[in-house]
Amino acid sequence: MTDKQIRILLVEPHAQIAESVSAALDSTELTVIHVNCAREALELIEKDVFDVVICEYHLPEMSYIDLRNKIAAIDPGLPVIITTALIDSQLVSQASSERIDSILLKPYSIKDLKARISKVISNKQNVADSLRLKTYMFLHEDLLQLSESDTISDLLEKFNSILKDEVQADEIHVFEIDSEKNVRNLLGREIDKQDFIPLIDEMFKSQIGTKRPFFLTQERLLEMGCMSYSLVLGLLEKLETNSIILILMGYKNSIKNLDLIKEDFGILANFFLNIYKNLRYSELLEKAYTELLESLASTIEEKDRYTGLHSSEVEKIALSIAEKIGLTDEEKEILRKASMLHDIGKIGIPDEILNKPGKLTDTEYEKIKEHPIIGYRILSRSRTLQDVAKIVLHHHEWYGGRGYPFGLVGEEIPLLARILCLSDAFHALTSDRPYRPAFPVDKALEIVKSETPEKFDPELVALLEEIINEGRLQINYDQEMSSEQID
Ligand SMILES: [Fe+2]
Ligand SMILES: [Fe+2]
Repeated sequence: MTDKQIRILLVEPHAQIAESVSAALDSTELTVIHVNCAREALELIEKDVFDVVICEYHLPEMSYIDLRNKIAAIDPGLPVIITTALIDSQLVSQASSERIDSILLKPYSIKDLKARISKVISNKQNVADSLRLKTYMFLHEDLLQLSESDTISDLLEKFNSILKDEVQADEIHVFEIDSEKNVRNLLGREIDKQDFIPLIDEMFKSQIGTKRPFFLTQERLLEMGCMSYSLVLGLLEKLETNSIILILMGYKNSIKNLDLIKEDFGILANFFLNIYKNLRYSELLEKAYTELLESLASTIEEKDRYTGLHSSEVEKIALSIAEKIGLTDEEKEILRKASMLHDIGKIGIPDEILNKPGKLTDTEYEKIKEHPIIGYRILSRSRTLQDVAKIVLHHHEWYGGRGYPFGLVGEEIPLLARILCLSDAFHALTSDRPYRPAFPVDKALEIVKSETPEKFDPELVALLEEIINEGRLQINYDQEMSSEQID
C-alpha cells in the first residue's frame, strides 16, 4: 500500500457483507464509502475521487458491463474489482476483455481483498507513471529547444509549434500589455483587446506571480462574449518594466486530461516566460550598449578634432556602395554600425598623439595603428556586435596587402571592411586638412583611382565612380583635420 490514504468505493447490495468488509478495511490507510446500487455509485464517482471500486457483479438495475463502461467514461483510469459468488458463462466470456480488472470469489478473506487492492492500485500507478514519463521525456526535449532560442522571434516561433504539438491547442496568443493597457501582439492573430482586458483585470489580482495557469470554462467564455472556444488556458506574469505578459491557449472542442494539459502548459509557459524575460533584458542591454558605444564614438571624434560628421558621412558613402552591390539588410546594418564605430579604438590612443598638429613620429604612428585592434576588443564584448567588431578590425587593411593590422591581401579582407576602408579614405580626401584644403569630388576620385589596387578594391572603386557620375552622392565637407588618414 502507499503512504497516501486509499479511497475505496464499495458497491454491494448485501448490507451484511458491506458492513463486515467496511469494518475490516476502514483504517488510517483505507477509507471505504459504501453504496447499494450502480446509480449511486456513478453519482459518487462523478463528484468524488476514488482509487478503486469493489463491485458486486450481479447488480439488480444495471448490467456490470454497462456500469463498467459508464465508470470508464467518467474516470478512465479507475480500476474495478468484481466480487461474485457465482461465475456464469457471461462472466467467463467477459473475463478476457479489458473491462475486467480483477475478480474475487465470494466468500473472500480480507487478506485476499487487501492483496487485490494493492495489486490493482499499483498497476494503475504503473500505467500512469509510464505515460507521465513519456510526456516528461518529450517535455524535456521541448524545454531544451526553447532554451536554445537566440532571439525573441525565434523563441515565439518554437513556443507556438511546441504548444500545438504537445497540448494540441487550436490557437495560441502571447500579448504584452503596458501599464496604460496598450496591447502588443507578440504571437497569434490580432484580436480585439476589449475581449481580454476585463479578463486581465479579473485575473491580475488572483493569479499574478503565482506561476499557476488559470482556465476559463465555456460558461465563463460565453459570459465574456467569446463564442470561439470551449476552453481557454492562460498564464499571466509581470515584467520588470511594469508590463504584463499574457499567454492564452484556446481549445475549440472539449478536451480530455485537463489536469495533464494544465500541468504541461504550466511547465512550458513558465519556462517560456523565463527565457522571454532573459532575452528581452539582454536585448535591451545590447541596445543600450550599442547606443553607449555610438555616443562614445562621437565623443572620440570630437577629441580627434573631427566634427561629428565624419562617421555619418562615411556611413552614407558605404551604404550607397552597399546598395549598388545589392547587400542584404543584415549586411547593411553591420556596415552601418561599423561605419559609426570604426574609430572607437582611438579611445586607447593618448590625446597628445591624436591631437598632434605636426607630422607623427614612427613610434606615434605605430601607436595610432593599434586602434583597429583596440576597437575590436571593445566591440567584441557585445554579443550582438561580433560581426561589426570583425569589420572594424580590418578597416585599415589595404587591397595590395600593405595595410594594418594584419597585412591581409585582396579578398582575404572581408568585403564590408573593403567598403569601409574606401568610404573612410574618400571622405578624408574630401575634408580639409591642416596641410591642404579638401579635394573636390572629382580630384578625390582621381587620387583614389591612382591608389588602386594598392589600397582599394578596383571593383568597389568602379562602383563608387558610377555612384558619383549618377549624381547620387552628396558629400558634406568637414572643416577640421584628423590623424585618421595618415599614410
Ligand atoms: Fe581608423
Ligand atoms: Fe575614419
